[in-house]
Amino acid sequence: MDDVSIVKQKTDIVSVIGEHVNLKKAGRNYKGLCPFHNEKTPSFMVSPELQIFKCFGCGESGDVFSFLQKYEGMEFYEALVSLAKRSGVALRGSFTNQKSDKAYLLELNALVAKFYHYILTKHPFGKYALDYLIKERRLKPATISEFNLGYSPQQPSLFHNFFFSKKKISPSDLEKAGIVYIKDGFAIDRFRGRVVFPLADSRGNICGFAGRITPRDSNKELAKYINTPETAVYRKSELLYGIHLAKRHIKMQKSAVVVEGELDMISCYQVGVKNVVAIKGSALTSDQAHMLSRLCSKIILAFDSDFAGDSAAKRGIKVLNEYGFEVSVAEFGKYKDPDEAARCDKQSLFKGIDNAVPVWDFIISSIFKKHAKDGNFSKSRISREVVAVLCEIDDLIIRSFYINFVAGKLGVSQEVVEAQVQNYIRSRRKILDVAQFDVKTTIAESANDNQKQKDVVELWQERLFSLTISYDLKQLINLYEDGVFTNVVLKKIIDHYKNYNDLNISYAKLVEILPPELSEKAKNLALLDIPEDQEDIQKEIRELTIRIKRHNLNLEKEMILSKIRKIEVDGNDKNEDELINLQKKFNQIVHKIASLALDR
Ligand code: CTP
Ligand code: MN
Repeated sequence: MDDVSIVKQKTDIVSVIGEHVNLKKAGRNYKGLCPFHNEKTPSFMVSPELQIFKCFGCGESGDVFSFLQKYEGMEFYEALVSLAKRSGVALRGSFTNQKSDKAYLLELNALVAKFYHYILTKHPFGKYALDYLIKERRLKPATISEFNLGYSPQQPSLFHNFFFSKKKISPSDLEKAGIVYIKDGFAIDRFRGRVVFPLADSRGNICGFAGRITPRDSNKELAKYINTPETAVYRKSELLYGIHLAKRHIKMQKSAVVVEGELDMISCYQVGVKNVVAIKGSALTSDQAHMLSRLCSKIILAFDSDFAGDSAAKRGIKVLNEYGFEVSVAEFGKYKDPDEAARCDKQSLFKGIDNAVPVWDFIISSIFKKHAKDGNFSKSRISREVVAVLCEIDDLIIRSFYINFVAGKLGVSQEVVEAQVQNYIRSRRKILDVAQFDVKTTIAESANDNQKQKDVVELWQERLFSLTISYDLKQLINLYEDGVFTNVVLKKIIDHYKNYNDLNISYAKLVEILPPELSEKAKNLALLDIPEDQEDIQKEIRELTIRIKRHNLNLEKEMILSKIRKIEVDGNDKNEDELINLQKKFNQIVHKIASLALDR
């Protein structure tokens, strides 16, 4: 057996996927919320028997390797290595030449982080920065190690000696990793003179870096923070700072505290708020929301105190709403950000988080507050701003709650605010690209029609097939010979089974011997949500069999009936015999239909 087969055999897809997706047993399969698209009811199925997964919502499917490739963004080779490690398989083949660019860049980043960390913690050149972090930013040495913080010295000699002379790494590779840029033929470390924060993905791979200027080197011309430019392994929109350390806490606490900066994240974590990630000063993206939605359903925003007026924050809230998060906002009194609160008075940080208010309360109240402060407390102005916010609330029940709330605050009736909201939505819809709107609805409608058209009986047959393979594969043949299956694909699959020399094979084996055009369908049939209890399965098999048989008999009955009518209309005596014959058949079918009812 080759490495791939051995690793596959030693790995259980359910436990691998179960680490990322909350799976529940559903008969012989497992079921959960699809990690590849946004859904509220589970349509993601995993089959332990076939070692495959499939989402019936978005169509993603595959085996344990492709799961990791899609979910973790690994390449095949990475997935293989990681699963081999997990199952204790020593790979025999040499994969070093297959090592991808991506893997190389990650390795290089890890080395760079190690270098910076060494300078910060061990080298005299890092002494000043270390003092800054410990004394001014109040970081403990253990925290500095856990976050692998570093310092890049101003003087280029250490960097050059280490990477170019000692490690023989080419400047162009360091350029590819986004660490250096080349100017006049010289490789210049873009983080020089800065405290360096390695930016890790959820698995702890270092994808890039952020560098903060220290007070000593700070001047007006230099940005306070700089980041690795986008590389093959660093995509800004996908990164949540701290996720590799925070994810298990987020999962455990079922909520995430989202802060702006690296130091906000680290400070919170250090004082015990461990379910925290940072968005690095930009608007929260849908990639980030997606990542969080796999871990929790509650978000507490802990941004800077000028948050209310911030349009990036508002965009982030919109994204979070689309993912169905319950969002609230924490405030920290006199402290400007969570880092300051954590550093100066950690109780104020805990209190702020515990007392976070629902995001709509927060936004609506801040509009009222702002206008009260402006001194021009004008109801019409407030109403215009507030109505725009109310329209953003997708959940109608929650919206109606806030309409009530606003009406109360403005001292007007609920109906008036409701009408205003409807006006606003109408006027906004007009502005929307009408063409695009139409295309969307047509697609949705036609998909709907297709679904309806898909023969219900075919769905019954597919379900019966799935139930039967979970119960007793051999019964497929009886049902087939009984004429229950009319669907061609199902019939072909059963044909292959019938003709195989051993009827005691497992379904997984059957899938293996099928030609490719049938095996895909056969795999999907094993992924339906089937009850666990054998008695329940049996009962459903019985009921479905009757239902399908009755349907088939009814079709036959209709056909005979129409023939009879035709002969009657023609009034042709020569068909007398045939008429009698048909009538006999008709009676037989009616009798069969009646006896089906007795079978129940
Ligand atoms: N940021 C950035 N580039 C900048 C400025 C800010 O990437 N030029 C990001 C950093 O992640 C920063 C966050 O935006 O942490 C918030 O910026 P800001 O509020 O200005 O800084 P603080 O986080 O308060 O920075 P510090 O606590 O280090 O002073
Ligand atoms: Mn700060």
